[in-house]
Amino acid sequence: MTEEIPLFRKYPKLRNIPWVSTINSPTPIHKMEEISKELNHKEIWVKRDDLTDDIYGGNKPRKYEFVFADILKKNKKRILTQGAIGTNHGLATTVHARKFGLETHLFLVEQKLSQHVRENLLCHHYFGARLNLMKSNFRRKLAIKARLFIDKKAYFVTTGASSPLGTLGFVNAAFELKEQIDAKLIPEPDKLFVTVGSLATCAGLVLGLELAKVRTKVIGIGVTDPIWSSKKNTLDLAIKALELMRTRDSSIPDVSDVIGERLIVDHRYFGGQYGVPTEEAMEAIKIAKKDELKLEYVYTGKTLSGLIDYIRKNKLQKDEIVIFWNSKSSADLTSVIEEVNYQDLPRKFHKFFDSSVEMM
Ligand SMILES: Cc1ncc(COP(=O)(O)O)c(C=O)c1O
Repeated sequence: MTEEIPLFRKYPKLRNIPWVSTINSPTPIHKMEEISKELNHKEIWVKRDDLTDDIYGGNKPRKYEFVFADILKKNKKRILTQGAIGTNHGLATTVHARKFGLETHLFLVEQKLSQHVRENLLCHHYFGARLNLMKSNFRRKLAIKARLFIDKKAYFVTTGASSPLGTLGFVNAAFELKEQIDAKLIPEPDKLFVTVGSLATCAGLVLGLELAKVRTKVIGIGVTDPIWSSKKNTLDLAIKALELMRTRDSSIPDVSDVIGERLIVDHRYFGGQYGVPTEEAMEAIKIAKKDELKLEYVYTGKTLSGLIDYIRKNKLQKDEIVIFWNSKSSADLTSVIEEVNYQDLPRKFHKFFDSSVEMM
């Protein structure tokens, strides 16, 4: 854990934005030797954000360094947040909130069942999340509104913690990468591949790379509905984060008109539906194992499949330096999963463990 972050080193006036340390950083960066060989591409690197935490890492905790600090500053005690039943964000929130004595209430809607979804449900319970199953997004919204009205110690965290504050976590991550480039741990990448789900990861990186004057272009692989995870929405969020930064330090340049030039958001690897595996993602997961990376098909498998396709279709120059942002926690939760009996979950959730239910 660190007490000073690259973003504050660059812009000391931003130190008055509340921040708490909750991740292991800087995360390692290394060349993926086997994957580079397999794809016959000279340099493919990986940023190991899967290692941001020993219990539950991945991209989410970077956002919490700013979001949780805001919660603590406002003296709130309970987090209300939302997602599908297998939400990684919900699990990451629950695990990290505990460190600060905060309780997490998850408002969940159904999604296609898979082993991963079941495992996350068991983990939500193990780490102490209060689980609420909602019949629709509409009902979920109403339920959260009602709770916020009654409970003055509750704080709402938006889907994926993709608020302007959460986005700062990835502006900081871009400055972390810049410091690693300056320390010659990696040559300056030409292209960066990252997953676009609820937006803040990609939005923060695009904004941070621009401010850090790193030449890297960003290829965001959309894994949620394209209407939602569009380039426009990603840039809108980045601009909101920039506005927030500029209210604290007006010397930060207004780069809102130029950030779009370094971003492509590509939905060709989405597979038509959130959470559904594609053949290409399954192949990417296999290839990733050669460099001992644990990917999955909802997010990171699809993103690596995009990178692989760009290389195979010669959309990247042979000598371009490419970096893959690994955003899924690789911490092993097997012992937790084995310990929980699904019957200990609230009754409404038992049906997801019925062995006759078809899974993906
Ligand atoms: C493992 C993983 N990677 C990437 C993403 C996408 O990040 P973001 O929601 O910030 O776009 C998510 C969540 O949506 C995720 O769970």
